[in-house]
Amino acid sequence: MIEQISAARAEAENRIARTIDLADLKSLDQEILGKKGTLGALKSGMAQLTSIEEKKLVGQALNEAFVAVRSALDERLHQLATGELDERIQREALDLSESFSSPVRGRAHIVTQAWQRLEDVFIGMGFQIAEGPEVETDWHNFEALNMPPSHPARSMHDTFYVDHGQPGSTVLRTHTSPVQIRVMHSTKPPIYQVMPGRVFRNETTDSTHLAVFHQIEGLVIDKGITLADLAGTIDAFTKAFFGSEFGSRLRPSYFPFTEPSAEFDIRTPDGSWLELGGCGMVHPNVLLAGGIDPEEWSGFAFGFGIDRMAKERHGVSDVREMYTNDIRFIEQF
Ligand code: PHE
Repeated sequence: MIEQISAARAEAENRIARTIDLADLKSLDQEILGKKGTLGALKSGMAQLTSIEEKKLVGQALNEAFVAVRSALDERLHQLATGELDERIQREALDLSESFSSPVRGRAHIVTQAWQRLEDVFIGMGFQIAEGPEVETDWHNFEALNMPPSHPARSMHDTFYVDHGQPGSTVLRTHTSPVQIRVMHSTKPPIYQVMPGRVFRNETTDSTHLAVFHQIEGLVIDKGITLADLAGTIDAFTKAFFGSEFGSRLRPSYFPFTEPSAEFDIRTPDGSWLELGGCGMVHPNVLLAGGIDPEEWSGFAFGFGIDRMAKERHGVSDVREMYTNDIRFIEQF
């Protein structure tokens, strides 16, 4: 029996040394030391021994074999565990280094470039910059602009409503005109301000329309302001922004918040006309909503699309291209 024990022990040590992973080692543990294992079974065989002397010898040999095998298992466990960890570290290592032959310089998006140039030009003309919230009250976006709930012009705006407060009381602003009201509330006239920002309309996008786009609003309130001041300001802006070879014109139009109202176009050097935006003399009801006395003050307002300016300036045929973030498109400007 002693021989059986030492054979089983030698075999066990051999197999332990040849295990390749932790799972392998774990099943081997059972196969050797478990009740039915190669050494484990010998332990139960001891019951058949009759002589005390023999029991003592066999017991001692078994004990030694168990201790030796257990420590071989432990040692192998340690080897495999650290080996597997090393291997895993190797396998999962991320190479976070990246090298460029020369640094790549970023640039502003063409709409941001247009926005910034517009601000520069208007600041040069003596205007200040203001901004308002993109999530706006129905009151600022419509009602204060002379568009009560029943007004048909509202349906032209394809409004996104925000689930906040009373149903229908909160919108994503459909134009930058509500900022006129906010400026009137926060600034005492005279007012010479422009208000750029993002606006939203629930429209299907196509090559000339986006559901999210940008406008810049202008507001002038002073004493004795007339339509001539509006026309002169639009023309001065056109020449400052596009160049002295450009011109401008006003065409009669309608907006609820201006009276009279006009569309303004610019004349390109080749003589063609390009529609740019809307404008007009601020309606007395709008001045009243802004807390300004229409008997004392008068003013004009205008608004036009910034994306449209970027599109025209760079000859982009489809406005959607500007927002796909395709690096090949963006890098051109
Ligand atoms: N808010 C108008 C629009 O989005 C433009 C406009 C602004 C017209 C100011 C007149 C005065 O179409």
